[in-house]
Amino acid sequence: MADEQKYANYIPDFFECDTVDKAREIILTGNDTMSTEDRWREETTFLAEEMGREFNITSSDLILDYGCGIGRVAKALIERYGCRVMGLDISASMRKMALEYVNSQQFSVVSPQDFDLLVQGGLRVDHTYAIWVLQHTYDPRVELSRIQSSLKPGGRFYLVNEPGRCVPCDMGWVNDGLDIFKLVPTYGLQVVKEGRITLYPMNRESDKWPVANTYQREG
Ligand SMILES: C[S@@+](CC[C@H](N)C(=O)[O-])C[C@H]1O[C@@H](n2cnc3c(N)ncnc32)[C@H](O)[C@@H]1O
Repeated sequence: MADEQKYANYIPDFFECDTVDKAREIILTGNDTMSTEDRWREETTFLAEEMGREFNITSSDLILDYGCGIGRVAKALIERYGCRVMGLDISASMRKMALEYVNSQQFSVVSPQDFDLLVQGGLRVDHTYAIWVLQHTYDPRVELSRIQSSLKPGGRFYLVNEPGRCVPCDMGWVNDGLDIFKLVPTYGLQVVKEGRITLYPMNRESDKWPVANTYQREG
């Protein structure tokens, strides 16, 4: 008898969780060399400094945190630069926890569907970042199209991702072979800086270091 063909099914509610501790573990999973707490502290500081430089953030900027989780990066940017951040996330529980965690008048949350309505009504953001998000989405072309259409001309997009895809499915993390870094420029976002995150001792080979690129929307 021939082997039965198996297909992986995407789990849309994979990122729903009921406690902040579970959310933190799912957002930055600990490993042999660094705990979730270590990663939270070191990586968040690194990202806030990097984005401060790459976006040249001012207090009048509105920045989109695409896949905000509980808002760890948004909180750091608001505290450092006094900007406004809008956190978009597919997970209702993450959005709820983010409002409590960031706890600032400068922060708001939105679902992807409500964000589309705001953009149809004319909303545009100064800059956008997506940290550990596009590697996990079912179809990153949807996210890139939303990011491109909501970004002001000349606005910047900062992207942190694993080199490969890891989509949450009923058969585990699946790499569907899509190359996010080849896709991004096809959405009118030109690379202005190619970077890597070198904080993690477990990624010993440089081709396994997470990618941290800056793009700019064509004017
Ligand atoms: C690994 S967490 C990273 C959270 C946050 N960016 C951080 O670094 O602290 C991935 C986040 O992306 C969100 N997410 C996954 N797919 C998404 C999608 N299609 N649209 C918006 N958010 C998504 C998840 O709900 C989760 O909060």
